[in-house]
Amino acid sequence: TATRSIPALRGVPFLGNALQLSGDVPTEFLVEAADKHPEGIYRVDILGRQALFVYDPDLVDEVCDETRFYKSVAPPLSIVRDFAGDGLFTARGNEPVWGQAHRILMPAFGQRSMKAYFPQMLEVAEALTTSWTARQSEDLAVADDMTRLTLDTIALTGFGYRFDSFSSLQLHPFLQAMGNALTEAMVRARQPLMVTRMRARREEAYRADIRAMQELVDDVIRQRRGHGHDGGTDLLGLMLEATDPRTGDPLPDENIRNQVLTFLIAGHETTSGLLSFALYNLLRNPHVLAQAYQEVDRFLPDGSVPTYETTMKLDVIPRVLEETLRIWSPIPGIILKPFADTTIGQYRVLAGQQIFVLLPSLHRHAKAWDRPDEFDIDRWLPERRGEHHRAGYKPFGNGERACIGRQFALTEARLALAMILQKFAISDPHAYRMQVKQTLTLKPEGFTIRVRERRPHE
Ligand code: HEM
Repeated sequence: TATRSIPALRGVPFLGNALQLSGDVPTEFLVEAADKHPEGIYRVDILGRQALFVYDPDLVDEVCDETRFYKSVAPPLSIVRDFAGDGLFTARGNEPVWGQAHRILMPAFGQRSMKAYFPQMLEVAEALTTSWTARQSEDLAVADDMTRLTLDTIALTGFGYRFDSFSSLQLHPFLQAMGNALTEAMVRARQPLMVTRMRARREEAYRADIRAMQELVDDVIRQRRGHGHDGGTDLLGLMLEATDPRTGDPLPDENIRNQVLTFLIAGHETTSGLLSFALYNLLRNPHVLAQAYQEVDRFLPDGSVPTYETTMKLDVIPRVLEETLRIWSPIPGIILKPFADTTIGQYRVLAGQQIFVLLPSLHRHAKAWDRPDEFDIDRWLPERRGEHHRAGYKPFGNGERACIGRQFALTEARLALAMILQKFAISDPHAYRMQVKQTLTLKPEGFTIRVRERRPHE
């Protein structure tokens, strides 16, 4: 087949890897560049190596072929490895412990397990609405409170640990350490290794934060073991007891610690971003907000407490979440590499070359979506689901390295949104204008809302 040369971005102030673009929000820069390159692919030359950015759905479809491409643990993931180690998210495909942990943990993330976690999810969502009831005259920092919700939820459901984030203004020391370490990881992902090596004081603080996180997790594990039995029905209990169906081996202790840290990291920022963007979209689209209110009034009348079954019957709220994940995907991209030299479309790519699938541009690509910039939850009606390109929607990643926590996140987010709308009339008196903040994930920065308890039939 004829090959074409891949368009190059020129004059880009790059320092050393795919995310090392200048500016606080590299994703915005990359998306603007994508708008100027209708080919759906461009390359950036970095110190003699090339990174490719891909967002044409046909090209993405090829890159998602797992027989030819594999997940690459590149910055920032390779730096998050400093504390998440060989946990699922940051494990390399050729590490046998990935497959072992994947097989052991898959059932614990299936839809059926969500029923078992539901009481704890409910407990934390109630802590949120109780806290908001007491703060009806305040501006509520949406992303902060959504982070409290998602962190407390994964810690309680996964490991039986209570951060109780809604009962104190200060962050729990563990959460402080995790926030610092993640921030430092992002700084490191965007600076040359030489600079990282020169900053001894930061190195010391970074290592201290990592130790603090590990100590708390080791403590939780020790306490559980101390109770005379390893088990329990949560994720930790499962990891302590289960053996790999294929090899018969249990997970090594150090890997269990890495998985706990992984779930705390992977399990909170993304879901928090999803919920924050969802509230933003509801406020921007009053007709959808009205539909969502109608739905909660139908399924959760007169202050009734949600059950797992009612949460699963919701229809408008899940479509709000799906459309939010399309138009404001909390994860900016996934990174893959070809096993061997190959072509995608008419473009030649070399073994080991880094390919970044740029999700915001894919999710709004005209080839994949009708009226791509419109927030339209009806695209997710059963009869319309088949309309979009099959590779046009990858908010949870791809293939066997796709998100294991998908059902968990969606169940938790459905419940939280339903309870917020059941209890409160939400408003946005400061007419927020979207400003994205980029850490490991994307979130709306400085977004505040006000809430007021709803009156009957409002
Ligand atoms: C992987 C997105 C929630 C745990 C991923 C990946 C994406 C993603 C895109 C693939 C990353 C890559 O290819 O490098 C999301 C989004 C979420 C969410 C958008 C919420 C809306 C969660 C939750 C958990 C979780 C709640 C845990 C409780 C993981 C893990 C992996 C992963 C462990 C690595 C899977 C593997 O490679 O085996 N997620 N995630 N995620 N996610 Fe999520």
